[in-house]
Amino acid sequence: MNVDSNVNYDDVIPNNVNLSDNRKLQRAIREWHPKFMKWWWDRGPEGFQNSDVFLRTAISVDSSGWATYAYVRMPEYKWGIFLAPQRREPTIHFGDKLGEDTWESVPGEHRNDLRRLIVTQADTEPGSVEQQQKLGYSSPSLYDMRNLFQVNVEEARHLWAMVYLLQQFFGRDGREEAEELLVRHSGSADAPRILTTFNEPILDWLDFFCFAMFTDRDGKYQLGALAESAFNPLSRTTQFMLTEEAFHLFVGETGVGRTIRRTAQLMKEVPSEDVTTVEGIPLNLIQKYVNYWYSVSLDLFGSEDSSNAASFFASSLKGRFGEGNRKKYPDASCKEAWYMIKALDENGNDCNIEVPMRRAMNAVLRDSYIDDCNRAVRRWNKVLEDEDISFRMQLPSDRFNRKIGIHATHHADPDGSYLTKEEWERRKYEWVPSEKEKAYVRSVMVPVKEAGRFANWITPPNRGISGKPIDFEYVRL
Ligand SMILES: [Fe+2]
Ligand SMILES: [Fe+2]
Repeated sequence: MNVDSNVNYDDVIPNNVNLSDNRKLQRAIREWHPKFMKWWWDRGPEGFQNSDVFLRTAISVDSSGWATYAYVRMPEYKWGIFLAPQRREPTIHFGDKLGEDTWESVPGEHRNDLRRLIVTQADTEPGSVEQQQKLGYSSPSLYDMRNLFQVNVEEARHLWAMVYLLQQFFGRDGREEAEELLVRHSGSADAPRILTTFNEPILDWLDFFCFAMFTDRDGKYQLGALAESAFNPLSRTTQFMLTEEAFHLFVGETGVGRTIRRTAQLMKEVPSEDVTTVEGIPLNLIQKYVNYWYSVSLDLFGSEDSSNAASFFASSLKGRFGEGNRKKYPDASCKEAWYMIKALDENGNDCNIEVPMRRAMNAVLRDSYIDDCNRAVRRWNKVLEDEDISFRMQLPSDRFNRKIGIHATHHADPDGSYLTKEEWERRKYEWVPSEKEKAYVRSVMVPVKEAGRFANWITPPNRGISGKPIDFEYVRL
């Protein structure tokens, strides 16, 4: 599917941005589209590009029927460009510009910051597709394989959404950035993805589920913060991305939950409770995956005390999650407020530091994220309770395994107790998966390609997709 000059753009690229009347944007897309397709073939899901997959495709922003479900071959997926309907008065609702009109184009003084925010978000979308490229081969069921591919095509659509902003509002620099997004690659030595978490390989399905649970959830909070932006097209683009993102989080949370349930069932079947004798994944190993992906996802929020965060808030570029909720956030300016952050003093003792609220916006956003993660962990523990198993999953301390922010300078165990560097090196595999453990997890991930059947390490879901039964042929191989 290539876009040539005779084509009706609205047929090829579903959109609500008047693409067929916008010659300039058409020209930019005509240049970029073949490069995107080459990227998709080279870096997108490997081995299944010619299979029919039962996929959801966004076709409008009408909340009652925004998507259709049908068999589609992934390279023929219609990656669309959508802005959510305007949801509030077009006035700025936080920061120094409170009450002024929102922006339909990019103000010169915020051009660099906005471009940087958009490029950083955009870079994660193809990054995750690249990380997950080979997972289709070890899929535990056709249902899960379909969900993986759904996430992949939607992340690629999110790339389109961000590229639209760059091409439409940032002129030549924007077009160059759009090209660069296809040049950088996850894990590449010379041109890696911008954020380190998106350069970590995802080699097994527990990695994938944890990624969708914790790293996509960071995405939800970043998109939510951008959805508050005074730059209206950014706000409306990210709002629509959030409707798709909800499914990604569902895949992650229920994927881990189904793995936990299966392990709990197997523990009752094998007398020693050692589920590795029946190709299950031990609960403490699932906990190690959780520790790892949660801690690297916390790093994505950036430093707790950040002058960039302060200026993004002051300039009304990026708000808090649910900024418009004045019951939750009565203070729309945050000029005088302070935020308490738990840190370490120079002797290595706990202390509280007060940071001006605007400088603490990364921490504020991250704290909303942590609450959200805890809600999901409680649902996992409900599974263990149902299955009569006493083990409980938990999130590690925010000091654990950190590379960015105030906790990056020291080591801690999952309870938050400090460790020397030597202790950390000696003991870290008590808390994060070792190579040997990861190899074990990969070894149980045998592909299952028969509709309605599931690998032994995971339970079937409660229900299928879009009213279809669990044994529906979600991917026609
Ligand atoms: Fe995304
Ligand atoms: Fe996502």
